[in-house]
Amino acid sequence: MARDRYSPPALGVSGLTKSYHGRPVLKGVDFQVECGELVAFLGANGSGKSTTLKCVAGLAEPDAGTIRLQGTELSGLSGKTLAAARSQAAMVFQKIHLVPRRTALDNVCAGALARTSGPASLSPLFFSRALREEALDCLDRVGLADRALEKVGRLSGGQQQRVAVARALCQRAGVLLADEPVSALDPNAAEHIMALLAELAHTHQLAVAAVLHQPALAQRHADRAIGLLHGRIVFDGPAAGLGADIQDQLYSPERTSAA
Ligand SMILES: Nc1ncnc2c1ncn2[C@@H]1O[C@H](COP(=O)(O)OP(=O)(O)O)[C@@H](O)[C@H]1O
Ligand SMILES: [Mg+2]
Repeated sequence: MARDRYSPPALGVSGLTKSYHGRPVLKGVDFQVECGELVAFLGANGSGKSTTLKCVAGLAEPDAGTIRLQGTELSGLSGKTLAAARSQAAMVFQKIHLVPRRTALDNVCAGALARTSGPASLSPLFFSRALREEALDCLDRVGLADRALEKVGRLSGGQQQRVAVARALCQRAGVLLADEPVSALDPNAAEHIMALLAELAHTHQLAVAAVLHQPALAQRHADRAIGLLHGRIVFDGPAAGLGADIQDQLYSPERTSAA
């Protein structure tokens, strides 16, 4: 989506490097994700996709580089200011981190913990009426308002991933970081989750970065694709332009084994 010349991208990453035990896994990664855009991250196992998202989410510490969320650079911040800036990004994982014995509504309310503080926010007993209404609205946006009071453990995998997305919405994050959000789902549920992420990006102006394993899913649903190879971006362009040559570069065994 085109943005105002003066408004920053929702997520801007530049010069990101990261090593584990002296072995570089990100070697200078630069990209942006705009509001209203779904960007698919592709690449072989070990190419650095998860590490990239983890650095943005604060789950891994970058060695160098800058990360800007809604224009705010994170590196100079600490304490509450850093937490507030980071709450602009919400993570959705392949392995769904929900509490199965709690209702969908309670799980979604928990998304607000990232932007609130104090002991009152720790127990569902203290979720306010306003928060419950907001959580119900988030469930409605993922098409699950009618399952709000059901225990999450009784929902299908696709429905649970929808609850996880609703929880991220309840965090009021402008940036969704989804690490393999459909890898554990059957093909039909995967299509639905991807369509939902695209709709949230386009209709609600969220910036969505999603790690995917199937280029075809990216071509069908994403606006843009970013291809990583050995910790470097080797493709950044319209998802429709993910041709056989690029896919071969990203996934061919002789290239991917040289990590
Ligand atoms: N916590 C960690 N400690 C050590 N090595 C790690 C850690 N996390 C990831 N790596 C290594 O970094 C590389 C990139 O990993 P990752 O970002 O998970 O790749 P991807 O998500 O593309 O499969 C891999 O070689 C992986 O083994
Ligand atoms: Mg990964």
